[in-house]
Amino acid sequence: MKASSVEFMTLTERSQLSKPHLEATTLPPRSYWAPEFFEREVEHIFAREWIAVGRVDDVAEPGDYFTVTVGTEPVIVVRDGDGEVHAHINTCRHRGCELVRGSGRTTVFRCPYHGWMYALDGKLRGAPAFKDTENFGKGDYPLHSAQAEVWNGYVLVNLDADAHPYRDQVSDCTLWGLDAYGLNEQTAVTRVEFELQCNWKIFAENFIEEYHTPWVHGTTLQPVAPMANWKEFPDLSDQPWSFMVGQFPGISMSDSGEPRFPLRPELSDLAPEFSGMAIWLSHPSFGLVVNCDCSLYFFMLPDGPERMKLVVGLCVPDASAQAFHAGDPATVNAVEEYARNHRLVSEEDNAIVEAQARGLKAQAARPGRYCKYEGLAWKFDQWVARTAYGLEG
Ligand code: FES
Ligand SMILES: [Fe+2]
Repeated sequence: MKASSVEFMTLTERSQLSKPHLEATTLPPRSYWAPEFFEREVEHIFAREWIAVGRVDDVAEPGDYFTVTVGTEPVIVVRDGDGEVHAHINTCRHRGCELVRGSGRTTVFRCPYHGWMYALDGKLRGAPAFKDTENFGKGDYPLHSAQAEVWNGYVLVNLDADAHPYRDQVSDCTLWGLDAYGLNEQTAVTRVEFELQCNWKIFAENFIEEYHTPWVHGTTLQPVAPMANWKEFPDLSDQPWSFMVGQFPGISMSDSGEPRFPLRPELSDLAPEFSGMAIWLSHPSFGLVVNCDCSLYFFMLPDGPERMKLVVGLCVPDASAQAFHAGDPATVNAVEEYARNHRLVSEEDNAIVEAQARGLKAQAARPGRYCKYEGLAWKFDQWVARTAYGLEG
């Protein structure tokens, strides 16, 4: 479908979409597959917002690096010799070759094409045979960089050099007690990547609505985390994040529901309405599920309009992570149990988001409606439409 800027969203679609939660319609089905919507999301969201791309554990030592695509931009995340984390654009300043793929540990980035060499902080150190080139100074050709910030054990990247610090944009998380969970004192013990055949927004919406629990997770989540026990907090903050709590305190991801990792005493200070399993989506694409004794992270990275890469990991208290890596049998058993239980739920979600993506391709598909259990999905869709599609309100 080719739409001119006038037809991008019809006036009817705009006015239906801008209504309050229980009166509004959902985003147009073509926004989940049409390139012109994705181009706007790349320009107005992924080129300007903070995007979570990794854990500090992924760049634990000087020289550790990994590559990732932010929107459509190839990025290298690396820790330099001074311990600082950088984000460089993965394109050589000579004639543009990609510098590295995948992940690893290095002391320099040497371009595979003609051998230009860059320090970990991005400075150009070597340009073979350039002595005779007029008006050429290595200082003028460092790698292009993005902003990188470490927050609570996560690495976030922002392609916009003028963006305000991430920590300021999520400072209101103190309102629901994020600090009590001590994410800074947790380490990842699993990391899994999925290639999903769906638009990234489909996964994000699914992440923050409990309406699907009885249908998609009927034998897994619904018996322990039933739909009716979730409470959404759409008005807690004006900052761009969405938050809800499964109000069943003390339940975690083991077979019995009993936590198997140590609990922090600070958790007893949480207000009763915020006690339980917290689900937090930092717009656009960074999700956390925070349990009493562990947390799960989700990076929802678009790969074009109709595909995405999902990165998921389990984090446990540092001491438990050390015991896990040392092979302590009880800890290994607990990690495997949590990971197995999460995998069951994850497979259910991954299957349903791809099914929704297929259905949304129907010519007959039209915007739908939101129920009371989809308040945060509405809030997220409003944010996308305002940030990327020019919806006013
Ligand atoms: S493109 Fe990198 S050295 Fe030529
Ligand atoms: Fe789900």
